Amino acid sequence: MFFKTITAAAAVLAAGVAADGRPSNTSICDYYTTALLKNNTAANQLTLLTLVVNTAVIDTKPNVGIAVPGILAKGTYNGTAVNLAPYFNGGLSSTNTGGSVGRSVNFLDGGGAAPLMKNMAATDNTSNQYTLLTHLYEYFGVLLGCSMQGGGDYPAYTGDESMYTVHQFMDLSAAEVGYFIQQVAMSAASFGVAQDDLMVVGTALTSTFDVKCAPPTAVIKAQGPQLQSICIDSTCALAVNSTCDVYNGTIVKPAVANATLDGNTTASSTASSTTKPSSSSTSTSKSGAVVVSMSFAAVFGGLAALLL
Ligand code: HEM
Ligand SMILES: *[C@@H]1O[C@H](CO)[C@@H](O)[C@H](O)[C@H]1NC(C)=O
Ligand SMILES: *[C@@H]1O[C@H](CO)[C@@H](O)[C@H](O)[C@H]1NC(C)=O
Ligand SMILES: *[C@@H]1O[C@H](CO)[C@@H](O)[C@H](O)[C@H]1NC(C)=O
Ligand SMILES: *[C@@H]1O[C@H](CO)[C@@H](O)[C@H](O)[C@H]1NC(C)=O
Ligand SMILES: *[C@@H]1O[C@H](CO)[C@@H](O)[C@H](O)[C@H]1NC(C)=O
Ligand SMILES: *[C@@H]1O[C@H](CO)[C@@H](O)[C@H](O)[C@H]1NC(C)=O
Ligand SMILES: *[C@@H]1O[C@H](CO)[C@@H](O)[C@H](O)[C@H]1NC(C)=O
Ligand SMILES: *[C@@H]1O[C@H](CO)[C@@H](O)[C@H](O)[C@H]1NC(C)=O
Repeated sequence: MFFKTITAAAAVLAAGVAADGRPSNTSICDYYTTALLKNNTAANQLTLLTLVVNTAVIDTKPNVGIAVPGILAKGTYNGTAVNLAPYFNGGLSSTNTGGSVGRSVNFLDGGGAAPLMKNMAATDNTSNQYTLLTHLYEYFGVLLGCSMQGGGDYPAYTGDESMYTVHQFMDLSAAEVGYFIQQVAMSAASFGVAQDDLMVVGTALTSTFDVKCAPPTAVIKAQGPQLQSICIDSTCALAVNSTCDVYNGTIVKPAVANATLDGNTTASSTASSTTKPSSSSTSTSKSGAVVVSMSFAAVFGGLAALLL
């Protein structure tokens, strides 16, 4: 019933409501909350972000002609096979728990897909799954400009500050991060978000997180400028104004913790480790923190490729 309403609203949007265009003084979050759920309340904004994030993680519903395979599904990005599930299910020792190598953590321990299908984060409120999903609702709400976020109905983001640090021991590639962003974009598209708006979001995500050596950037204002590069392996594009010297942490290719969950029963279980301030010649490093505001409207190009 709930999804029927949403799907009908999305169909209306796809049929042309959004074609009138989002006013420049209205954020993507506010605009689509009103379009899909009528009242632009904090609770409705959280509902919108829950729909978009859950659908990006795992295809949750039949929707307006756009099938979303989901972040947990095996796929291909730009000709490269991608399988992100082992980073979430404990198959890889890839979670940064504070040591010098990653640890295996199961982030699907709150009921897995079932609660996501019911527009919930998890079946409980203490699992790793609950914490991760609620943090994603909060973080992406900031990225999409949810104006009502910050109170009890839709709390501000209080997770880790640096997306580089969070994802450091995953040693992610351009194909892996590109696939993740593509699923977010396809999820938004499945709810009727217009092409222009998808392009704005895709470009901002790509330039902020899908580049290596990005200068310290404030995404969550209260957290100040932080290292945000999620793409860090040798396939990643170098950020504009790159500051590789401050990305001085140890980079470890994650070891296989459980070959069954990793989906490769012949994989070796040894990690290789290097320290990497990469790309020394091309970086124009800065010593202090550089604040780069998330300018969603300023950059163009790229999302057409993401949506292929
Ligand atoms: C635009 C790209 C991405 C953004 C903005 C993003 C954002 C986030 C955020 C906000 C968190 C929660 C951090 C916290 O709870 O403190 C997180 C955690 C996580 N992300 Fe990403 N992410 C991105 C790409 C990826 C990719 C490509 C993967 C690949 C598998 C990934 C895997 C994970 C995992 C496994 C966690 C849980 C780690 C932990 O809690 O320690 N993310 N991400
Ligand atoms: C956006 O601008 C229009 C007029 O251009 C105004 O009517 C509307 O109230 C504004 N909306 C917000 C959220 O400021
Ligand atoms: C919209 O929100 C207002 C204030 O919270 C409430 O009074 C009203 O009933 C809501 N309308 C709908 C359609 O949910
Ligand atoms: C796709 O991969 C090629 C190299 O294999 C690279 O030159 C190109 O930039 C990649 N495109 C995207 C959108 O990632
Ligand atoms: C977590 O769930 C328990 C039991 O359902 C409930 O009593 C508690 O208030 C919840 N806590 C939060 C923070 O939602
Ligand atoms: C790069 O640095 C220059 C000079 O500080 C600045 O004008 C420009 O906006 C920066 N570009 C980006 C994308 O950060
Ligand atoms: C790594 O960079 C940080 C700043 O991002 C700095 O505080 C720290 O001293 C550096 N560590 C090493 C070993 O260079
Ligand atoms: C690997 O994961 C599978 C599936 O969850 C589980 O049945 C098995 O016990 C795990 N193996 C080890 C060595 O932990
Ligand atoms: C499985 O692991 C082996 C050994 O590490 C590797 O050569 C092979 O490419 C992997 N296969 C897949 C499908 O990942």
